[in-house]
Amino acid sequence: MENLVKYIERLPKAELHLHIEGTFEPELMFEIAARNHIPIKYNSVEELRSAYQFSNLQDFLDIYYAGAAVLQTEEDFYDLTWAYLERAHKDHVLHTEIFFDPQTHSANGVPLKIVIEGIHAALIDGHEKLGITSCLIMCFLRHLEESSALVLLEEALPYREWITAVGLDSSENGNPPEKFERVFSQAREYGFLTVAHAGEEGTAENIRNTIELLKVARIDHGNSCLSDDALVDLLKKRKIPLTLCPISNLKLKIIERLEDHPLLNMLQKGLMVTINSDDPAYFGGYINDNYVAVSRALNLDKEQLYQIARNSFLASFLPESTRLKYINHLNDHHYQICD
Ligand code: ADE
Ligand code: ZN
Repeated sequence: MENLVKYIERLPKAELHLHIEGTFEPELMFEIAARNHIPIKYNSVEELRSAYQFSNLQDFLDIYYAGAAVLQTEEDFYDLTWAYLERAHKDHVLHTEIFFDPQTHSANGVPLKIVIEGIHAALIDGHEKLGITSCLIMCFLRHLEESSALVLLEEALPYREWITAVGLDSSENGNPPEKFERVFSQAREYGFLTVAHAGEEGTAENIRNTIELLKVARIDHGNSCLSDDALVDLLKKRKIPLTLCPISNLKLKIIERLEDHPLLNMLQKGLMVTINSDDPAYFGGYINDNYVAVSRALNLDKEQLYQIARNSFLASFLPESTRLKYINHLNDHHYQICD
């Protein structure tokens, strides 16, 4: 296993399922809260961290939205994003596709301009100073009305060049994909790619409707797809990638034990799976921690990890030339280490 951990540490990879608000480490949260004169209801970093015990997705979302209220200025969004990029660089992430939730911040009086300009400036520096490529995925919060998502979509048009895709996150139960059919259709007309969370707490039917109605390029999570053979065939036929997040699933009690994670089963069925960290500051594990934990639990070998890392580039929104360049780096790592 030690050998495998070393292999994972330097394995070139892409991260495709990462909420920037979910990378907000308690230390940075206290620092930013102090400079913005915003009270935090916990007395220390340790006390805040120990509150990160969740029984389900909604439990987590309540704490996550409260944490995001500390973010107020462009500098805050820059610092948040920069901290993540430095951390991801250590894990040999060559490319990252970052979710952000503008409706969370507009509810706190922070306009889209502040949020996106702060994040974008950090992404530019990430490329120049760390060599990380990235793109942005603007998410709609599914617990809000579709009309609010439609307003956000129009507001985002001046930033069209900075946003590659739109996504859908927040509470899955009670907020099915049907609710967002019109806004996704409009987004596609504007030229955005689309992705959406589905089958995290929700059913296989939610995944199917997300594919058929929202015409997504990827499914975020997709855990429940294995309960429907025809859906598995559809995912395979259309080569729709799944962005899995094993530690997140464990912490939100989607699974009881990592040994129960469907990743290996999915891989063996020929699904295009990837490994990601979702909200690492809240779940206690960045991308390499996810690779290591799931490898231990499911006894994955180097060939399977290679395939998963390769999938991460194939499933990305990178231009073909960069994708091939990264896969060449991956091949160098794999064949050199395997010799
Ligand atoms: N927002 C942040 N993390 C999320 C998750 N795991 N599921 C749905 N919405 C989210
Ligand atoms: Zn997510």
